[in-house]
Order: sequence, then structure tokens, then C-alpha cells
Amino acid sequence: MVVANWKSNKTQQETTIWLEQIKSTILQSEKTVVICPSFTLLSVFSQQIPVKHIGAQDISPFGMGAYTGEVNGVQIKEFAQYVIIGHSERRQYFNENDEMITKKVMVAKQAGLIPILCVQGKDTPVPEGIEIVAYEPIWAIGSGKAESPQDADNIAKAILEKTGAKIVLYGGSVTEENVASFTHMEHIGGVLVGGASLDPQKFSLIISHA
Ligand code: PGA
Repeated sequence: MVVANWKSNKTQQETTIWLEQIKSTILQSEKTVVICPSFTLLSVFSQQIPVKHIGAQDISPFGMGAYTGEVNGVQIKEFAQYVIIGHSERRQYFNENDEMITKKVMVAKQAGLIPILCVQGKDTPVPEGIEIVAYEPIWAIGSGKAESPQDADNIAKAILEKTGAKIVLYGGSVTEENVASFTHMEHIGGVLVGGASLDPQKFSLIISHA
């Protein structure tokens, strides 16, 4: 599985250009490829590729109603199949805690979305019923210093044993050069890619090398 986390990047026009260059790679890959753009770009994606390739980066902990600025699960489900929950940037800049994250997991599942739960270590709590966990050591995110594949695999193994998760992804400075060293490990089922997913050439290579 190869998941792109675009974070707060790209306009509609930039997205259209990116998609033109990489759409066929995404559609033809035998791997599960999921792109998670900003909410404003979800409709650009859903007009071009099936929702099984699309995810959101966050979800409201509430349903429909008077929650200014929030986007809820039912709204996301119109455009996407997945949602990233609990990214360390949400925890750091928006004060998300484990209680909030558990609530978000609940509403995501109620809406029929598949949560991709981000954890920062093997001791981060994983709510029940999570199938996809993304292990991302904070120091490796955007730093150009990925964790060693062996250390990441040890953590992935511990997460698989401790939680009911079916897949553990590794995230943190994944590139076209190092992706295979992670995906070849026994307990790592894929990668979560930030920076390198913004470049269509690099991301195509990541998909094919994964
Ligand atoms: P990075 O980000 O690939 O830019 O390190 C990964 C992430 O935060 O999901």
C-alpha cells in the first residue's frame, strides 16, 4: 500500500497537472495507491479517479451540524474511501489528544470510511477496530532522515502483535530511493509519503519501487 499525504499543499490547477502526469500509474498499479489531499482538492480527484484511491487528511469528531470550519464523515464519504487520523502535526499544532482521535475513528467508521491511524511509536494507543496503522517517528518526518528499515520493522511487528491492525505502514522521509528497503521488510505493509508525493515523477517511482 502506498499512501500520499499532501498536507497543506497544491491548488486545483497544480492538482490537475499532477494528475495528468501520474493518473495512469495510479490506476494501473497492482498496489493499493491512495492520495490524501486537502479538502478543497477532493472533488478534483473524485472527478478523475475512483474514490478507492482517495483519502482525507482529517475528519470532524462531530456529525452534521453547527461546528464551524469542520468537515464531517458523511461529507468526506462523498469523495473518499480513507481518512488519515492522528497525524503528529495534528497532535502538535492542533492539540489533538488520544481521546479526540478515538472519537474521530468512531465517526469515520460510522461514515464507512477506512481510518489510517498515525502512531508515533509502539506505545501510542490504537483504538479498537483499526486495520491500518501508519508508524511515523516524529524526528523522521520531513527531516530527510528516515528510520532504519530494521528498526521500523521491529516497531511494525510490535504494533501488529499488540493491536488488531492488519497493515502497518512506515512514514517519515520515504523517497524513491529508500522505499523498497521498507516495503521489503516482513512486517511493513506499505508507506505513507509526505514531501516526495508532491512531485509526480518521484511519486511514480515510489509506486513502482514499493
Ligand atoms: P515526509 O512526511 O514523507 O515528508 O517525511 C511523512 C508524513 O508526515 O506523513
